[in-house]
Amino acid sequence: MEMLVVLAGFLALTATVDGQDQSGFISIDCGMAEGTDYNDATTSILYTSDAQFIDTGTNKSISPDLESENLPKYLSSVRAFPEGLKNCYTFKLVQGNKYLIRSVFMYGNYDSKNQAPEFGLYLNADEWDSVKLENSSDVVVKEIIHVQETNYSHVCLVNTGLGTPFISALELRLLNSTIYKTQSASLVLATRLDIGSTSNDTIRFKDDDYDRIWKPYTSSSWELVSLRYASDLLSANPFILPPRVMTTAVTPKNGSRSLELQYDPDDATKQFYVYMHFAEVEELGDGGYRNFTILLNGDFWYGPMSVQYLSPVTVYSQYTVSGTSLELSLVQANDSKFPPILNAVELYWVKEFLQSPTEQSDGEDLSSSGLSGKIDSSLSNLESLQYLDLSNNSLTGEVPDFLSQLPLLKTLNLSGNEFTGSVPSLLIQRSKNGSLSLSVDGNPNLCVMASCNNKKSVVIPVIASIAVVLVLLIAFLILWGLKRRRQQRQVLESKANYEEDGRLESKNLQFTYSELVNITNNFQKVLGKGGFGSVYGGYLNDGTQVAVKMLSEQSAQGFKEFRSEAQLLTKVHHRNLAPLIGYCNEGRYKGIVYEYMANGNLREHLSGAGKDTPVLSWEQRLQIAVDAAQAFEYLHEGCKPPIIHRDVKTSNILLDGKLQAKVADFGLSRFMPSESRTIVSTQVAGTPGYLDPEYYISNNLNEKSDVYAFGIVLLELVTGHPAIIPGHENTHLVDWLSPRLAGGEIRSIVDSRLNGDFNPNSAWKLVETAMACVPRSSIQRPTMSQVVADLKECLQMEMHRNKSASQSRTYQDTASSANSIDLFAVELDVSMPHAR
Ligand SMILES: *[C@@H]1O[C@H](CO)[C@@H](O)[C@H](O)[C@H]1NC(C)=O
Ligand SMILES: *[C@@H]1O[C@H](CO)[C@@H](O)[C@H](O)[C@H]1NC(C)=O
Ligand SMILES: *[C@@H]1O[C@H](CO)[C@@H](O)[C@H](O)[C@H]1NC(C)=O
Ligand SMILES: *[C@@H]1O[C@H](CO)[C@@H](O)[C@H](O)[C@H]1NC(C)=O
Ligand SMILES: *[C@@H]1O[C@H](CO)[C@@H](O)[C@H](O)[C@H]1NC(C)=O
Ligand SMILES: *[C@@H]1O[C@H](CO)[C@@H](O)[C@H](O)[C@H]1NC(C)=O
Ligand SMILES: *[C@@H]1O[C@H](CO)[C@@H](O)[C@H](O)[C@H]1NC(C)=O
Ligand SMILES: *[C@@H]1O[C@H](CO)[C@@H](O)[C@H](O)[C@H]1NC(C)=O
Ligand SMILES: *[C@@H]1O[C@H](CO)[C@@H](O)[C@H](O)[C@H]1NC(C)=O
Ligand SMILES: *[C@@H]1O[C@H](CO)[C@@H](O)[C@H](O)[C@H]1NC(C)=O
Ligand SMILES: *[C@@H]1O[C@H](CO)[C@@H](O)[C@H](O)[C@H]1NC(C)=O
Repeated sequence: MEMLVVLAGFLALTATVDGQDQSGFISIDCGMAEGTDYNDATTSILYTSDAQFIDTGTNKSISPDLESENLPKYLSSVRAFPEGLKNCYTFKLVQGNKYLIRSVFMYGNYDSKNQAPEFGLYLNADEWDSVKLENSSDVVVKEIIHVQETNYSHVCLVNTGLGTPFISALELRLLNSTIYKTQSASLVLATRLDIGSTSNDTIRFKDDDYDRIWKPYTSSSWELVSLRYASDLLSANPFILPPRVMTTAVTPKNGSRSLELQYDPDDATKQFYVYMHFAEVEELGDGGYRNFTILLNGDFWYGPMSVQYLSPVTVYSQYTVSGTSLELSLVQANDSKFPPILNAVELYWVKEFLQSPTEQSDGEDLSSSGLSGKIDSSLSNLESLQYLDLSNNSLTGEVPDFLSQLPLLKTLNLSGNEFTGSVPSLLIQRSKNGSLSLSVDGNPNLCVMASCNNKKSVVIPVIASIAVVLVLLIAFLILWGLKRRRQQRQVLESKANYEEDGRLESKNLQFTYSELVNITNNFQKVLGKGGFGSVYGGYLNDGTQVAVKMLSEQSAQGFKEFRSEAQLLTKVHHRNLAPLIGYCNEGRYKGIVYEYMANGNLREHLSGAGKDTPVLSWEQRLQIAVDAAQAFEYLHEGCKPPIIHRDVKTSNILLDGKLQAKVADFGLSRFMPSESRTIVSTQVAGTPGYLDPEYYISNNLNEKSDVYAFGIVLLELVTGHPAIIPGHENTHLVDWLSPRLAGGEIRSIVDSRLNGDFNPNSAWKLVETAMACVPRSSIQRPTMSQVVADLKECLQMEMHRNKSASQSRTYQDTASSANSIDLFAVELDVSMPHAR
């Protein structure tokens, strides 16, 4: 049997000695309330709720009498699956990467039935193991090392008729692919022992960078030896062994020449891989060394080998072993003065996943692929299609009816396209009764209401679920009807680069502080300063320009605000919301990386701060107003629970290269409980000039506070003036406007830099819309979707004028005046805003 030995120093060892970050970790406390997280008191591992990885099952708490101080918090809640035979968690991982996946189960009598269940545990379509709980307090841990063959992984619980499946925690750890290698199979953990441990402590993160869990183990026939201090040298081999594990070791007692270790598998047909970790921890003096040979069940296995002071060596089998008993003997060489030593042992058995996952196909990951045109009808042939993500492309036309006829379809993501018409009602029905997870948001011209035939095309974005709710994909299917067009190749490649750095995709949002230093060239270029810190310009490695918002250390309330912003942004997507590239949460360094917006913020444009910023035309202003209003409409009405921005202002409305508005800065956002439409907030937050007077007095916050502030934004768009006009009296824009409104002269109100180049009707309508947003009493203010509808009318009027104007110019050549009359007719029809 061939063995391999990995010697320290042989490979370039860049062991991450200070690699205490949790990038590459996904840690889930199953059943915990959605949106919550915490750092485990012992390990400091950040556990998050499982809500974004699964959409089935119910969350339960274990019986209170089983709760105790010593019980890890992640065991106190479970997610149970009383319905369905197979329920799955879905993780978006990176193909080709190696992960340690750990699932933890403690029944805890959560259902008060006192019947510990037994059920199946699956990885993708294959059985991984079975889970059998003995009693309420029994804790079962299943661990597998697995190379991703697709970009998705599904951990599934299967009801085998022996009780309701449930799960307490799920942990995924990205491993270096160079370790725990096998021919093809996955490795299921049998045991992992910290040999010679003098304490009763299990060791894991932060001692172990990979968060392997090492159990203390020793025997009375062994002599304990240990180093008095933990040396980092002890982890200096590709397995990055925890120094604390390697510090303690055993040698045989009483001058015996051999060290024996026995393991009895529960199944003699299981094929095992053995990993033994050695390092000398005693100073043996000049010429002292340990030479020994390893025997397995009496047969020569490996050797002779020697162990050097503080030099970790890992010996592992290249081929599997099996039997009713595995006996390892470490036998001292005849010429060696010292007996063998052993610091740690791992045993894994092989899980051959026979049913190799169907080829990863386009079917599951057509997202962001630059697809355009209509959905091909050949898709209708794919009757067993379960998962279809066409999000973030440029698909047009109607959403075809045949999609609702695909019998097994469980997830359909059409968001971020240019679909028109209405969503087939059968799809909506299936989405409502829960048999389909449907996302259609971000299709500005798509109607999702049941009654779509009313002419007024008010767009109401609906989001089936803002969490990434993915449903099990048993069979990925090849979609031959769709052709990829990688127009966005550069962007995609830059994304891939990040993943090559060894991040989990769902975590690739995280940057380290040193990466931010690189990106911003040591925070050289300040783009702006906000309430919570400064914004810096920078570039990613691939040249993508970014804006990095760093939270100021002094910012007292900052931490809370930062977290809510980062968490919100990762969950909320809309084409008029500033896209988040990632964030950094490293101790006191907290930052957010946004896509850079070439045209800065709206305030700069209105004030003409940038020297070479051209004056925004009336039509551009209206388009910006519509875009921004749609973002707020989405936050208020498209998100469940609704999100109140709380800091709506022109400097938070960014403009991209095409002057499309993107709303930024969710720093003050809070999820609103949907039961009560108002919440009492702990402190008044916001920017002077935009503060809802009612909120200011009562501290009562609702969506109408955003509507008020947005009204001020609209007035700024009209007048070009800031919310508070500087001067010795610091006049509020509304107060500045009121006397001029009474005068009835629109030109005295509209930004003079437009030189009268606007449709007065449209201007009045915009002023009217803005003024409707700012009454003191919030009940009198419209909702955001009303505002959106009104703004669209303003825009249409202006576009009509522009169209007529250009037509009239064309027709002037042919001396036709028909259209210029039309133009006059529009311009003359000037009306005053209604008093409200
Ligand atoms: C279950 O989840 C809901 C929503 O996330 C939460 O409000 C509730 O407290 C949770 N229940 C338990 C028992 O954890
Ligand atoms: C529960 O089962 C485990 C595993 O069989 C056992 O070690 C433990 O003693 C049992 N606890 C109780 C309270 O029965
Ligand atoms: C380990 O646990 C045993 C049994 O609970 C206890 O007797 C012993 O003192 C513990 N040892 C240490 C070092 O904590
Ligand atoms: C994986 O291990 C190899 C060998 O030790 C090392 O060269 C490489 O840098 C490691 N990769 C990562 C991502 O840590
Ligand atoms: C170890 O040595 C001691 C003292 O020499 C003796 O009493 C004991 O029986 C020996 N144990 C074994 C396992 O040989
Ligand atoms: C024992 O170890 C020493 C030091 O590594 C080495 O020089 C020697 O060749 C080894 N002896 C055998 C028999 O392997
Ligand atoms: C070591 O010594 C034993 C007993 O004296 C002997 O049987 C064996 O052949 C020796 N091994 C070597 C490699 O010399
Ligand atoms: C949509 O695609 C574009 C271009 O490929 C990319 O920049 C953007 O991040 C994608 N958005 C989402 C939400 O995936
Ligand atoms: C649909 O795709 C968009 C963009 O890629 C993503 O943000 C959203 O979370 C997806 N929705 C679901 C339900 O998967
Ligand atoms: C959901 O609605 C669709 C269409 O009405 C129906 O075919 C399907 O059986 C329903 N599923 C469930 C679980 O009610
Ligand atoms: C898996 O994801 C990586 C990174 O996003 C991407 O480059 C690759 O094309 C994906 N694989 C498939 C088959 O979609």
